[in-house]
Amino acid sequence: MTMMRTLSIVKPDAVHKNVIGQIISRFEKNNLQVVAAKMVTLSEREAKEFYEVHKERPFYQDLVSFMTSGPVFIMVLEGENAVEKNREIMGATDPKKAADGTIRKDFADSIDANAVHGSDSLENAKIEIAFFFDAKDLQTRTYASCR
Ligand code: CMP
Repeated sequence: MTMMRTLSIVKPDAVHKNVIGQIISRFEKNNLQVVAAKMVTLSEREAKEFYEVHKERPFYQDLVSFMTSGPVFIMVLEGENAVEKNREIMGATDPKKAADGTIRKDFADSIDANAVHGSDSLENAKIEIAFFFDAKDLQTRTYASCR
């Protein structure tokens, strides 16, 4: 077991449904910690660049339009096996195929409006985290009591 970080995006559909907190709660209940977070509206250029790996896929332009349709909530999650754990908590890309109790089963409407994005590998997690956050924005979750 190794501590690692992964990128999570609460997509415009889930932000619109006002379930950001419920989604974060699922990560926290599974021992993933938020070490960076921000709410932004992606520009067309940012969405295209972020999803460039899909640029030859037929759904690319719809994906870019959807991801720029409203604000998204972007987080870096840290924990043991964070990449794989996040993917298990999210469920299958297509909510029709997502297991019971997963975020996509409970909050997603379609393969396009599928509530969350998560990095699919440790290598991509590093690239995706660096796309949205500077190293200085990633917090160390230490705590020293003031009393
Ligand atoms: P995400 O994990 O953000 O990565 C790419 C997104 O493309 C994916 O979630 C889906 O929302 C969207 N998408 C739309 N159609 C497909 C498809 N046929 N296969 C994979 N992803 C798709």
